[in-house]
Amino acid sequence: MNICYVNGKYLPKKNSKISIEDRGLNFSDSVYEVIAFKSKKILNYNKHLKRLKRSLNSLKIKFPFSNVKTLELIITNLINFNTLYDGFIYLQITRGTSERNHLFPKHQKPNIIIVLYNFRSTDHFANGVKVITIPDMRWKRCDIKTTSLLANVLGKQTAQDKGVYESLQINNSNDITEGTTSNVFFVVEDNLIQTYPSNNNILGGVTRDIVLDLAKKNNFKILEKPFNIKNLKYIKEAFLTSTTVGVVPIIQIDKTVISHSKPGKVSKKMMTLFNSNSKKQINTINE
Ligand code: PDD
Repeated sequence: MNICYVNGKYLPKKNSKISIEDRGLNFSDSVYEVIAFKSKKILNYNKHLKRLKRSLNSLKIKFPFSNVKTLELIITNLINFNTLYDGFIYLQITRGTSERNHLFPKHQKPNIIIVLYNFRSTDHFANGVKVITIPDMRWKRCDIKTTSLLANVLGKQTAQDKGVYESLQINNSNDITEGTTSNVFFVVEDNLIQTYPSNNNILGGVTRDIVLDLAKKNNFKILEKPFNIKNLKYIKEAFLTSTTVGVVPIIQIDKTVISHSKPGKVSKKMMTLFNSNSKKQINTINE
């Protein structure tokens, strides 16, 4: 956990430095990924890599590694240089360092930061979490995983201040888009799961992708359509997904109690499917 990677060097976190003129710092001119690793194996690398490349392309930042294998090797080295077995990888690529000017610098040399973190304890999530709703105040490119996260940061803090886990964001049409650090799913009928479509209004989560896949394979019907807040009273269950917490049942949204304040059976099923899918992946990598 103490060794990180910055611009080609593996070094102790406390000795790592980035310029005060880094564009990520000055303008949030940067992208990031959060990737889980378990038993020292990187999970869902290809999906994260695909999203990373897409984010970089959207910001017109070149992929700063000679090839995709180089990045995988750097991450693997970092995991091996640290003692942690399970955790997540935080990777940030900024447009680089240049005298402060909104315009891109002529010669771009991205700054690269990779740091490992321990998973925060998620045991209590198995009992479900309460959430609140807040207005979605973000820009129109939420599909890019940029570090411009101020609306998310404020929304997450509001949740914490109100004693709940997450804030669900509601747009001008009164549709729930996603959480501040997670995607959200609604079980609208026993066999039907609804979630916001993957477009510019949400971050297309890697966990979301996997959960949708697993749900389809297990004969659930999927409706990728905006869910309007006025229909909240009709839902059977709801759950959140993200790389850092997996699948988390929701038991209350604002004042509306969901599935009698207990994780519902579909949410539990999706948790089990997701966890065994991760285990399967680790075993396959180990073979
Ligand atoms: N956040 N939506 C938002 C706004 C997110 O920030 C995240 C993840 C997700 C879920 O994406 P994924 O399943 O790929 O983790 C959805 C990460 C974990 C973070 O910012 O720490």
